[in-house]
Amino acid sequence: MKKIIYPKTGGVDSIEIIEEKEPVPSDGEVVVRIHRSGINFADLMMRQGLYGSNPDYPFTPGYEAAGEVVSIGDGVDSIGIGERVLAMTGFGGYSEMVCLDANRVIPLPESVTYDQAAALPVTYGTAYHMLVYLGNLAEEDTVLVHHAAGGVGTAVAQICKAYGVSKIIGTASAPKRKFVESLGMHFVDSKSEDFVSVCKSLTDGKGVHHAIDPVGGKHLMRSYRALRRGGKLYCFGASSAVKGEKRSMATAMSMWASTPKFDPLKMMRSNKAVFGVHMGLLDDESIFKGHLEALSGMLLKGQIDPIIDSVWRFEQVAEAQKHMHDRKNRGKILLDFS
Ligand SMILES: NC(=O)c1ccc[n+]([C@@H]2O[C@H](COP(=O)([O-])OP(=O)(O)OC[C@H]3O[C@@H](n4cnc5c(N)ncnc54)[C@H](OP(=O)(O)O)[C@@H]3O)[C@@H](O)[C@H]2O)c1
Repeated sequence: MKKIIYPKTGGVDSIEIIEEKEPVPSDGEVVVRIHRSGINFADLMMRQGLYGSNPDYPFTPGYEAAGEVVSIGDGVDSIGIGERVLAMTGFGGYSEMVCLDANRVIPLPESVTYDQAAALPVTYGTAYHMLVYLGNLAEEDTVLVHHAAGGVGTAVAQICKAYGVSKIIGTASAPKRKFVESLGMHFVDSKSEDFVSVCKSLTDGKGVHHAIDPVGGKHLMRSYRALRRGGKLYCFGASSAVKGEKRSMATAMSMWASTPKFDPLKMMRSNKAVFGVHMGLLDDESIFKGHLEALSGMLLKGQIDPIIDSVWRFEQVAEAQKHMHDRKNRGKILLDFS
């Protein structure tokens, strides 16, 4: 079987595809033949050596995949051969086959496609965790989200809509205006407009209830300023550390150096909250599983449906990642291993 590896840090041309023996499951494990695997912005940062919580190189990235079970180890009775599943791979999802603990696979209802399954966990799980689990999202809330046209951004828009939230402000690059507006968001050009003043002017000067910031660095303080009293800021990324597909240490260091230090006394006086969110480092996995159960209910009811930007053959992984680096995606990018 073939799998994609990051042999060392580098640009998209450093990615390799290698041949390996098919995995054999041990007790309690299953082997899944993967059809689709999700690409996340974090995969790009890992390739550049900017992520901080990935395995040592060489390793196979890929947090999420969907496929069919092809073999099971002793003691597995929760799942059978031939079953279609979502595989919460942790790492290793960029592969034709993956071997993992049986409790990390979730059977797929018949109506759910491999595309939907592979596109849902990380983006929707993260959006749900922030807005619903931490944020107590309510119908009358206003939400600011950056990278509004991307994987998490589109998930935020759909979850907000499902919760009856009508005022969503989304920042993105200029060519994505129509797309962002089509999702029911008020578009803000991330380069030429000041999102803080837009947030204030659309909320009678008060500011938003939730600010979802994957940009990091000094951008975080602007998102914090866009909040009303009692608002919540979610810090869950550092895209401003990335400049193009080759690593720029100067850009990464500048993000790091400009990251604000929040003053708890000032936060107390304005009742604002700042959450740090890293879904890969949740100690209690049952929290994430609970989110997935809720989201699969919403998917089956038609309240959410992942927007797929594009599906690329896995041999085109470098081009697929370049597509994200070039800020061209509208929704989720998937790899096809079928
Ligand atoms: N902490 C967590 O657990 C967690 C989980 C999931 C995602 N995240 C974070 O959430 C963010 C979104 O993730 P995603 O996987 O859904 O990706 P995504 O939003 O689809 O990422 C691609 C988009 O990000 C924007 N962008 C901003 N800075 C960029 C840069 N330096 N290089 C390339 N694109 C840039 C571009 O859109 P525009 O230019 O139009 O804005 C681009 O189209 C990422 O920062 C990711 O690390 C965190």
